[in-house]
Amino acid sequence: MAEKKVFSIYRFDPDKDKNPYYKEYAVDVEEGMTVLEALIKIIEKQDASLSLRFSCRMAVCGSCGVTINDSPRLACKTPVSSLKGKVIKIEPLPGMPVIKDLVVDLEPFFDNLKKVKPYLITKSPDPAKERLQTPEEREIISESADCILCGCCTTSCPVFWEDNGYLGPAAINKAFRFLFDSRDEGYEDRLSALGGIGGVSRCHHAYRCVVACPKGINTTYSIDMVKKLIVTGKKD
Ligand code: SF4
Ligand code: FES
Repeated sequence: MAEKKVFSIYRFDPDKDKNPYYKEYAVDVEEGMTVLEALIKIIEKQDASLSLRFSCRMAVCGSCGVTINDSPRLACKTPVSSLKGKVIKIEPLPGMPVIKDLVVDLEPFFDNLKKVKPYLITKSPDPAKERLQTPEEREIISESADCILCGCCTTSCPVFWEDNGYLGPAAINKAFRFLFDSRDEGYEDRLSALGGIGGVSRCHHAYRCVVACPKGINTTYSIDMVKKLIVTGKKD
C-alpha cells in the first residue's frame, strides 16, 4: 500500500529567484520506490519546473547525486523506505555552485580529476600484442576501478567545502587506480598534483567520503596508499 511522504526540496532558479527556498511536495510512495522515482513522479504529476540530473536509473552513470537528509547519495540507489521521518529533505550536492534546483556545476570536480591524469600512462616500448596483467595485479585496483564519478565522496568532504583546490577523494582514488595498476608508468607525471598543495596531505580522515560512496569504495584507503607511495616510494 502506498504511504504518503513529504519531500522538502531545495529550489533556486538564478534567472528569477533572489534567494533559494524549500518547497514541499506530498507523494504517494509505492513499495520499493527510490528517491529518484519519487522526484520523477513530482516532475511528471506536480511540478515540471523542478530540475535534476539523471540518466541510467541504476547506479551506473553517476549523474543523480543529491543531498538526501543531509548526506550526499545517489537518488536512484536510495529507497525512500530507508529514510527516517515523514519529511525527506532533498538538496543539491554541497560545496558546488548551483545551476538550478538540484543541478550543480561539476566543473570544479572534473577539473580536479583531470589534474591527476586519469588514464593509463605508458613509456616503455609497446609490446607486440598487449600489456598483460595477472588476476592478482588486477585485484589490487579492482575496488577503486568501480568508481562511477558521481561526486558524492568529494562533495561530502569538509576540506573540499573549504577549498575546491583540494583534489578530493574521487580524484585521488582515480589516481590510486592508475598508480597501482601494474601496467602504468605515470608516477612522475602525477606527482606535482598529488604531492602539491591541493594533494593528498590535505586529507584529514573525516571518513565522510567512505560513508558516502554508493559503490562501497574505501576512498580513504586509496588516499593513504597514495600518500604512502609519495612519502616512502613504496606501494606495499
Ligand atoms: Fe562516487 Fe564512490 Fe567514485 Fe566517489 S569514489 S565519485 S562516491 S563512486
Ligand atoms: Fe545513473 Fe543514478 S541515474 S547513477
